[in-house]
Amino acid sequence: MSEGAAVSDSIDVLGTDDLQDGQMTAVKSGGHDFLVARVGEEYFVADKRCPHLKGNLSKGTLEGTVVTCPLHHSQFDLRDGSVVRWTNLSGAALSIASAVRGPRTLRVYHTEVVGERVVVSLPE
Ligand code: FES
Repeated sequence: MSEGAAVSDSIDVLGTDDLQDGQMTAVKSGGHDFLVARVGEEYFVADKRCPHLKGNLSKGTLEGTVVTCPLHHSQFDLRDGSVVRWTNLSGAALSIASAVRGPRTLRVYHTEVVGERVVVSLPE
C-alpha cells in the first residue's frame, strides 16, 4: 500500500493454491467483481471488466503481467493498470473509437498474501 493511503476494507479473494503460475480467474467477493491473476509467486487483483466496453478480462489472455481483453484486444499491465494497447483497431477506426471512449487505465488493487490467502485492500 502506498504511504498515507487510507484503507477502509480488506477482502479475502482466494487461496494461494487456487491459481497456478500464469493463470487468472474471476472472483466475486465483497460485492466486487475481481480479476485475480498469478504471475510466479505474485498475485494481482483488478476489476474484472475492461475499461473500454466492459469485456470480461477473465476470459482474455495473460502474458507475464499483461492481460488482453477478449473483445477488442486492449491490453493492460496488472502491476499498475496502465494501458499497453487501446483496442486492436487501427487508422480511422482507432481515431473514432478513441474519440468516443479514449484510453482509460484498469483499476487495480493493493494485494498481499496473508498466510495462504490472497487479500485485497480497498481504498476509502
Ligand atoms: S471491451 Fe475490452 S477492449 Fe473493448
